[in-house]
Amino acid sequence: MQIAVDGPAASGKSSVAAEVAKKLGYLYFDTGIMYRAATLAAIQSGIDLADEAACTQLAEKINIEVGPASIDDGRQADVVLDGQDVTWQIRQAKVDAGVSQISAYAKVRELMVAQQRRIGEKGNIIMAGRDIGTVVLPNAPIKIYLTASVEARAQRRHYEALKRGQNSHYEDVLAAMRQRDHTDSSRATSPLRPADDAIIINTTHLQQPQAIAKMYGIIASYIAE
Ligand code: DC
Repeated sequence: MQIAVDGPAASGKSSVAAEVAKKLGYLYFDTGIMYRAATLAAIQSGIDLADEAACTQLAEKINIEVGPASIDDGRQADVVLDGQDVTWQIRQAKVDAGVSQISAYAKVRELMVAQQRRIGEKGNIIMAGRDIGTVVLPNAPIKIYLTASVEARAQRRHYEALKRGQNSHYEDVLAAMRQRDHTDSSRATSPLRPADDAIIINTTHLQQPQAIAKMYGIIASYIAE
């Protein structure tokens, strides 16, 4: 069983889908991690993120590993980039700001998608991202598209940052979110959009437990059929 979950930043993909996966005993895999790790690698190497050839070359070289959380610090998984634990570094604002640029490069996407398909082949998985239902796992029997207003999503990211003790300003978060939505939806390769056969869940007015119940209900009724 493969379940594809797509949607814009902070639509609830990771928090909701990870919980649903836990309830089902499925693996949860967040593909955004891979684009974030590639972006961090480029920043650390001092590569100009506008240099597509250099970013692609780097993406071919790096090794990204995602495994079960080894530290109880709120992480969903360990993210290891060339042997270095970068779980929290990939959530930094500078990565947020650069990741849309790197994830727009066709060759970078090709590399990531090939790895994601290999992970998907193991089955009993919920894979989350932007193009899972449209490109990575187009034959997934269940496709869900989570969405929410840009204001609600910015508010969530803002609170998350404050909770982590980071300095955060709602207006800045909102502007960055709008920018990222625009880049993710307007890129030529695999733009963010719901698959034709995706079920849409709007989480603007849903609390997390309600969104979890909704997604779980959709999947459970499909499995029971
Ligand atoms: O879900 P996220 O915010 O961690 O994703 C980070 C970025 O990676 C996002 O701006 C778009 C990109 N991304 C993508 O292009 N395709 C995916 N399958 C997952 C993420």
